Amino acid sequence: MANFTRRQLLKSGLAASAGALAAQLPTAALAASSEEQAVAAPAVAPALMAARRQKLDLGWRFRLGNADVASADLGFGRGQRTFAKALGAAPAARVDYDDSGWEAVELPHDWAVDLPFHEDRQLVAHGSKPLGRDYPATSIGWYRNVITLPAEAAGQRVGVEFDGVFRHAMVFFNGEYVGENFSGYAPFRFDLTDLAVIGGRNALVVRADATLGEGWFYEGAGIYRHVWLTRTQPLHFAPDTTAVRSALRDDHGQATVRVTTTARNQGESAARCRLRVALFDANGRAVGAAHSPLVEVAAWGEAELAASALVAAPVLWSLGAPHLSRAVLALEAEGAASDPLEIPFGIRRIRFDPDRGFFLNGEPVKLQGTCNHQDHAGVGAALPDRLQSYRIERLQAMGSNAYRTSHNPPTPELLDACDRLGMLVMDETRMMASTEEGLSQLERLIRRDRNHPSVILWSLGNEEPQQGTEIGARVVGAMKRLAKKLDPTRPVTVAMNGGWGKGVSAVVDVQGFNYGNGGGVTQNAPHIDAFHREFPRQPTLGSETASTVSTRGIYFNDPAKGYVSAYDINYPSYALSAEGWWKIYAARPFLAGGFAWTGFDYRGEPSPYGWPCISSHFGILDTCGFAKDNFYYYQAWWTKQPVLHLFPHWNWSGKEGQTIEVWCHTNLEEVELFCNGKSLGRQPVERNGHAAWQVPYAPGVIEARGRAADGTALTSRRETTGAATKLVLRPDRTALRADGEDLAVVAAEVQDAAGRQVPTAGNLVHFTVNGPARILGVGNGDPSSHEPDHASQRSAFNGRCMALVQTRRRPGAVEVVAEAEGLEGARVALKSDQ
Ligand code: GAL
Repeated sequence: MANFTRRQLLKSGLAASAGALAAQLPTAALAASSEEQAVAAPAVAPALMAARRQKLDLGWRFRLGNADVASADLGFGRGQRTFAKALGAAPAARVDYDDSGWEAVELPHDWAVDLPFHEDRQLVAHGSKPLGRDYPATSIGWYRNVITLPAEAAGQRVGVEFDGVFRHAMVFFNGEYVGENFSGYAPFRFDLTDLAVIGGRNALVVRADATLGEGWFYEGAGIYRHVWLTRTQPLHFAPDTTAVRSALRDDHGQATVRVTTTARNQGESAARCRLRVALFDANGRAVGAAHSPLVEVAAWGEAELAASALVAAPVLWSLGAPHLSRAVLALEAEGAASDPLEIPFGIRRIRFDPDRGFFLNGEPVKLQGTCNHQDHAGVGAALPDRLQSYRIERLQAMGSNAYRTSHNPPTPELLDACDRLGMLVMDETRMMASTEEGLSQLERLIRRDRNHPSVILWSLGNEEPQQGTEIGARVVGAMKRLAKKLDPTRPVTVAMNGGWGKGVSAVVDVQGFNYGNGGGVTQNAPHIDAFHREFPRQPTLGSETASTVSTRGIYFNDPAKGYVSAYDINYPSYALSAEGWWKIYAARPFLAGGFAWTGFDYRGEPSPYGWPCISSHFGILDTCGFAKDNFYYYQAWWTKQPVLHLFPHWNWSGKEGQTIEVWCHTNLEEVELFCNGKSLGRQPVERNGHAAWQVPYAPGVIEARGRAADGTALTSRRETTGAATKLVLRPDRTALRADGEDLAVVAAEVQDAAGRQVPTAGNLVHFTVNGPARILGVGNGDPSSHEPDHASQRSAFNGRCMALVQTRRRPGAVEVVAEAEGLEGARVALKSDQ
C-alpha cells in the first residue's frame, strides 16, 4: 500500500489544488520523503476547493420563455418529440445556439424581481409578481452558460451542483437532457462526464419553470442560488456521504471525532484504499488523526469507510466563541487515484431537556429565535453570501441566537454564516411528506447540512392539515426514521399549530408550538401548559410565535397606504405581540425558547392589507434590515446591555394638543419622561414589559431618563426636526473584498440642518458609485413601494433608504455618492481589496 504523497498527487493531476490540503495532513499520514516535504504549499484550502469545486456564477445568459406557447419558448416541446432522441429536446440547449441576444446575468439571479408589480388577488401572498398558470409569458426562464473544460479534466469526473433553482429545473448539457429537479429549495446535482467535451466548449442550459409555487410567500424565480462545477478523480468521496460527528466527554476534557464516508470508484479497476483523517482546531493546530482499515472498492463500486480520532482538550463551538474545527480527509489508494476533502465542523454537545429546555455544552440556552425567508430588499430571493452574514449580524445585534429556515431548506451559505457567527439553526424541509419526493428532499437536506454545528434541530413540517392525525403520524414516522438513519445526533420536530398531543406529537422528539394563544399581552398559554402536564417527558419549544405586524416609523394605522403602527399592539387573532409571546416563553423554563415570526420583512403576505401593499409587516426589521421599534424590545430583554429606546418621533405638525402615545423599550428599572423639560412622571418597568405615557403633543423635545438598579443611567431624546436639508451615508462596512461578490449595505439618511434624522422624509435619493463597484439593488422598507429594486435611485421611507454596493473583481478605492433634489448630497469612501 503506497502512502498518499505529494508526488502521487502530482501524478493524479490534483496537485495544484490538493497540495494545499495534503500539506495539512500529518506527516505520519503522508510519510512523505524530505524532498516531498520541502515542497511548500499554501496553508489553507480555498484554493483547493476552488479548483475542484468551482463556483459557476459568471458567464450566464438569460431570457424568458413561455409556459404555453412553444414558439415563444424557444421551440421547446414542439412536435411532441422532446425526449424522442438524444440532442432533440431543446434547440436552445445546443452549444452552437446563438444566445447573443440574451441578457448577460450573474448568479444568484431572481427574474421575478424585475417583473412589474401586478394587481391580482391570487398574487398578493406571493408578492404581486406575475408568476403562475395565468402568467405563462413570465413564468419560464432559460439560462445558458458555455463553459470551456480544461485539458486536465481528461480522465476526471465532471459534474454540476445546484444549491437551489426556483422551480422545476430541466437541465441540458451539450444539447442533451440530463435530468430535472422539482423542488425550488432542495440542492441537486448531475454527472456530466459522458457528455463533456474536454478542452472544448460545453453548453450548460437550464429551463426553470416557476409556474407552480411551493409556499404562500414570495419565492423568487430562476437560479437564485449558486451553481458549482465539480471535477474529481475516478476514486473519490461520494458527494454528501461524509459525516463528521463528535462525542464530548462529560467533563469536556476529550472528544471523539468519528468520520464516516463512502468511497466511490468510477474507474475501470478495483482500488484498495483507506480513509485518512487529520483534525485541526480553529487556530490551525493539528489536534487529532486517524485512519480506517484498507478496503477494496470494486471498479464502478462503492465502499463505506470510517475512522475515529481522539481530541484532547477540545476547543468547543459555542455561541460566544464559535470555534470551527476542520476535518481534512483523503483517500489513500494504491496508485494515483486520490481525492481530498475538507469539512468544517464544530465540537459541541446539544441536548433538549423536557424540564429545563435547551443545553449547549452543558449550559442552558434559551432559544431567542426568529423565523425567516430568503428574501431581501434590492435582490429578492437572490442573496449574495455577504447579505446572509449581514442579516445574521443584524439579528445578533438584537440578541437573537437562533434562526428557523422557514419553510424550506436554506442555501448552504446561510448555514456557513451561522456556523461562523454563532447562531443556532432549526433547519426545515419543505414538504411534510413520506413520498419518494418528500423523503428525497429531506435526505438531501440532512446529508448536506449535518456537519454544520449551528444546526440543532430538523424540522419536518409546518402547520400541515394532517398534523393531529394518524396519517400525519405515519408520514412523520417515515421521515423521522430517515432522519435518524442519516443523523442520529439531532432531534426532530414539527411546527404544529394545533393537534398538540395527537398524531405527529407522538412521533417528534421536540414538540413545536406555532401560536395557539392569541389575545394580547398575557402570561397564559393553556395549550402549552396542558401539553406539558400531560407529556412531561417531551421537550417543547415555540416553533413559531409572535406574527406581530408593524411598519417602520409609522405610528397610526393607515389602511389606504398599507401601513400598520409600530407600537407592539397589532397582530392577527391567532398571534401575539412581542411582549405577549416573550412573557409566556420567558416564564416557562421547560420551554426551550421560541422563534418569532419574523426577523425580517419579506415580499408577499402583506397582512393585514392587500394590494397595493406588497411586502409583509411581520419583520422585527424591515426588508432592508432597518430596525423597527420592536427590535429594541427584543434587544432590551434578549441582551445584557442597557437599552433605552424612546418612540415615536416628535414631528406631529397638525396634531398639536392631541394625545400621542409615547413608549420606551427598556430594561432599566425606572424611566422618567419629560416633554419640553416638564416631567410627565416616572414609571417602573415591568420585567419583559415596556413603559408608556399619554402625552399631549407640543413641538419640541421628549426625553426619557432611565436608571437601572446598579446606577446605570441612560437618556433618550426625540426632537421635532426642522426641514430636510442634507443626506448622510452610513455603510455597514467600509473594507470589502474585490471578489465581485462582497458588498456594503449603504444606508442613506435624510437629516435636518442640526443633523437630526427627519422621520417623515420621503426624498428621492440618487446613488452613484465611482471606482470598481456597482449598485446591486436598492430598497427602503416601505411595504407598499412599487419602485424597482434594480435601480440607482430610491425614495427614502420615513427618513431612510439604502443601496447594496457590490465590488467588482478589481481592487481599488470606491466612492458612493448620494444626491437628492434640494438637499446637500453625501459621499462615503469604501475600499475594495484583493
Ligand atoms: C403562519 C405560517 C407562516 C406565516 C405566518 C403569518 O401560520 O406558518 O408561514 O404565514 O402564519 O402569520
